[in-house]
Amino acid sequence: MTSSLKGKKIVLGVSGGIACYKAVELLRLLVKEGARVFVVMSRNAKKFVTPLTFEALSRNPVYHKVFDSADSASMEHIRAAEAADLLVVAPATAGTLGKMAHGLTDDALSTLFVAFRGPVLVAPAMNDGMYDNPAVRANIETMQSRGIGFIDPEVGSLACGVVGLGRLAEPEKILAAVRDRLARAWDLAGRQFLITAGPTREFLDPVRYISNPSSGKMGYAVAEAARDRGAQVTLISGPTPLKPPPGMRVFACKTAQEMRTLVLDHLASTEILVMTAAVGDFAPEQVQKEKIKKQGDEPIQIRLLPTPDILREVAKSKTGQFVVGFAAETENLVESAREKLLKKDLDMIVANDVSAPGIGFQSDTNQVTFLDRSGTVEQLPLLSKREIAHRLLDRIAAKLSSNPQTGS
Ligand code: CTP
Repeated sequence: MTSSLKGKKIVLGVSGGIACYKAVELLRLLVKEGARVFVVMSRNAKKFVTPLTFEALSRNPVYHKVFDSADSASMEHIRAAEAADLLVVAPATAGTLGKMAHGLTDDALSTLFVAFRGPVLVAPAMNDGMYDNPAVRANIETMQSRGIGFIDPEVGSLACGVVGLGRLAEPEKILAAVRDRLARAWDLAGRQFLITAGPTREFLDPVRYISNPSSGKMGYAVAEAARDRGAQVTLISGPTPLKPPPGMRVFACKTAQEMRTLVLDHLASTEILVMTAAVGDFAPEQVQKEKIKKQGDEPIQIRLLPTPDILREVAKSKTGQFVVGFAAETENLVESAREKLLKKDLDMIVANDVSAPGIGFQSDTNQVTFLDRSGTVEQLPLLSKREIAHRLLDRIAAKLSSNPQTGS
């Protein structure tokens, strides 16, 4: 079996805490999978495990002091570490997190972090009170907003003798996160994505609206996956209970008209538009200023007019953007989606059968079919929305690299 880490260069950052012994096990697992590992230690880490232990297991020099620039051999190794495929910091203490969040450099680990340009994963370990501290939470959020991935600590007995949330994740779990992160290339670095998500609400009066059950999960998954692959993401979201994801610009809207304005405003600076939003197709002709009162048992009539078709408008004003639509269908999935692909002048469309149970709206999984302009039809199995997002981005990245003019 070929290992997913074979030939990968990984920097393992170790900061000082009782969980340092688990970093030794993590190093052993990484090396066993074929990775070349460079260990970098904070000043305090050396109080728990000696550099020699890491050196013997990694068979590479361990960086534990800020190097003298006159020492050219050391500088060479530092350059190699800076150019590694990934930096994983495990365990990350509250102090190290604070330094990383604020770009402070006072030891080998914090200095290397500031110089490092690739993807970073952090596995915190500290006592539950510290983990809950608002300053620590804010530091974690700051780092997440910069695209740094976190492997959450677990509940267990902590060094201070209590049971709580703060114990370093198990080495196998950290290894899985490293594998997962490296499996996704940094292939969308700097690409400008505009992604829409969620439903729209078309108001009858101040308290009533027509909408649909879209949860926004698919669009948020695409936005997060694009961010994790290095893209600059702008997310335009209809009303959903989801938290705005860190590391991207998020604009909220309610109606199709508001979504249209936001999309057209951002189109010029966009290279790739992914319209996952379930835009309402009809809106009441008039929004009543006051709540509509019942007239006894009399029926009321509301005239609905079509909302603007955002993608059709985009088709008229686009200037080389790669445009992906989603098609929610209840019958003739592929034929109807192909029709939309042509009618809306899309580069790709993702078709899903919203009538099938357990997939589509609200669910965490979906079963979709990709169609593109060349006539390719690719049916995917039932997958998590996160995995579908990555598969979609794989296709987009491949199309962009085969057509360098697109989106430039
Ligand atoms: N869409 C849009 N503007 C609308 C309606 C839909 O831009 N007013 C976009 C959706 O975001 C999606 C694609 O068009 O990417 C297809 O949406 P869908 O609801 O499947 O199709 P409709 O065009 O609305 O056609 P119908 O509802 O008749 O199937």
